[in-house]
Amino acid sequence: MAEAPRISFSPVTAPKPGRTLVVFCDDGLKFGRGATGALGPAATLVTRAAKAEQFTGKSGSVLQLIMPDGLTVDRLLVLGAGTVADLKSEDFVKLGGAVMGKLPKAGDATVVADLPAAGKGKDGVKDTGMNAEQAADLALGMLLRAYAFDQYKTKRKPDEKPAGKRSVTIATGDVAAARKAFAPREAIARGVLMARDLVNEPPNVLFPEEFARRTLALKKAGCTVEVLNMAALKKLGMGALLGVGQGSARESRVVVMRWDGGKKGEAPLAFIGKGVCFDTGGISIKPAAGMEDMKGDMAGAACVVGLMQALSSRKAKVNAVGVIGLVENMPDGNAQRPGDIVKSMSGQTIEIINTDAEGRLVLADVLWYTKEKYKPQFMVNLATLTGAIIVALGHEYAGLFSNNDELSERLTASGEATGELVWRMPLSAAFDKMIDSKFADMKNTGGSRAGGSITAAQFLQRFVDKTPWAHLDIAGTGMDSRQNEINKSWASGWGVRLLDRLVADFYER
Ligand code: BES
Ligand code: MN
Ligand code: ZN
Repeated sequence: MAEAPRISFSPVTAPKPGRTLVVFCDDGLKFGRGATGALGPAATLVTRAAKAEQFTGKSGSVLQLIMPDGLTVDRLLVLGAGTVADLKSEDFVKLGGAVMGKLPKAGDATVVADLPAAGKGKDGVKDTGMNAEQAADLALGMLLRAYAFDQYKTKRKPDEKPAGKRSVTIATGDVAAARKAFAPREAIARGVLMARDLVNEPPNVLFPEEFARRTLALKKAGCTVEVLNMAALKKLGMGALLGVGQGSARESRVVVMRWDGGKKGEAPLAFIGKGVCFDTGGISIKPAAGMEDMKGDMAGAACVVGLMQALSSRKAKVNAVGVIGLVENMPDGNAQRPGDIVKSMSGQTIEIINTDAEGRLVLADVLWYTKEKYKPQFMVNLATLTGAIIVALGHEYAGLFSNNDELSERLTASGEATGELVWRMPLSAAFDKMIDSKFADMKNTGGSRAGGSITAAQFLQRFVDKTPWAHLDIAGTGMDSRQNEINKSWASGWGVRLLDRLVADFYER
C-alpha cells in the first residue's frame, strides 16, 4: 500500500510559503468566513480567474492558481462544492477524495474546512463554516482516495514515485471537536484499506493459511482471533467447505474474530464472509479470459476483517463476531466432482452439480457454525457469490437477500448514508424448490441460469434457520468496481463503511 498521508487539524492561520492551499466555495462562487480570511487580498484574483476559466463552483469542479499574487503559497486550489444546502455527510467524504486527487504528489497542503452556510443571513452570506463532523468526513475521503496498491511495481521512474510522506493540515474552527470526530473515521479508513489490500493481493501470496495469518493483526486492536485448522474443521464436520478445498495444495481455514465492546453476555452481531482465495471453478473450470480476477473471490471475507478492524480500533460499544471461510477452489486429481454428494455440518446433504458454485458451499458451513456456536442477534454474510448479480444490478448496488424486513431496512438506510448501496431481491418457496435434488437434500445450483443469484441465496437460507439474516452478493461491488472520488483501486473495500454504519446507527448502546 502507498504510504498514507499524515493528516492533522489546526486553527485557521495564514498559510505558509511553499504549500498548497485548498479552499471551498459554493456554486454561487461564495466563500465562508474562514476561506475568505485565508485568501485575503487574493480573493479578487480568484474572482478574475474564475471568470476567465468559466469556473462556477459546481460540485467537484476545481480552479487552480499557481503562485497566486497576494499569497505566499505555491499553489491555490479552489474546489467547487455545489449547492451547500444539498450536501450530506457522504458528499464531504467525496469532496475530501476530490481534494486528495488534486494535490500534487510532493509537498504539504493546508485545506481550509469552511463553506458559506446554507441558510442566508441578512447579508446573504451568513456563514457558520463547516462543522467538525464535516471536516472529519473530508479527512476520511482523503485517506480513502490516497490509497494505491503499488508494492509490486519495482520499475517506476523517479517522477512516478511517491515523494515520501505527504502531510495535509485541515484548518478548522474547532480543532478539538474535529480531532475527536476524526478518530473513529480513521479507524474505519484503516479497515477499508486493510480490506482493499487483502483483495488486491495476488493469489500466490494470499492463500488461505496466509490470509488467516494476516488476521492476527487484529489482536493489536483488541480482537480475539481463533484460527480453525484442517483437523478442527474435520472434527466439526464441515464437509461442504472441505469439499471445495480438497483439490487444492493449500489447506483450508476458518477464522473467528471477536470484538466484545458491548454489554457482557449480550448476543453478538455476526458477520460472515466468503473467502475463496482463488476460484478456478474447479472441475467445472472457468474460461481463461478474466480468470485472474478470481483472486478477488475473497472480498466478502476481506470486508469482514476490515470491519472487525474498524469496530475494534474505534472501540465500538457492541459485541461482534466475524467468521470467514478460507479455501482455494482448484481442479486436481483429488478435486470434488460434479455428482459428488457432501455432508454439511448441519447434517443436510448436498449434491454437487457445478463445482464452480463453491461459495455457497463454504458459506453453508460457516453460517451454520456461527448460528450454533454464537447464537447471534443477526447474521450478515458478504460474498462475491454470483455473476448473475452483476447482470441484475451492475456495479452500483450489491444484492440484498434477507428473511428479515427490519434488518433489510437498516442495511438499506446504512447504504444510502455511506454510498455503499444495496438493493433488495426476492426470496420465495418457488425459488427454493429449484434447488431440491433427486439424490440428496439439495443441489448446489438451480440447474439453469434463471434467477441465478436468487437460487444461490435460497441455498444459503437453508443454513440459517430462524436467525435474522441478510446475504449481500457483492460480486459487482467488491472488486473491479466503478472507480470514484474515494477509490482508484481495483479492490474497493466495499462493505466496511456500510456495516460499520449499520452497527453505529442501530446497535451500539
Ligand atoms: N466467484 C464466482 C462469482 C463471480 C463471478 C464473482 C464474477 C465475481 C465476478 C462464483 O463462485 C461462481 O463461479 N458463480 C457461478 C455460479 C454458477 C456456476 C451457478 C456463476 O456466477 O457463474
Ligand atoms: Mn465459482
Ligand atoms: Zn466463487
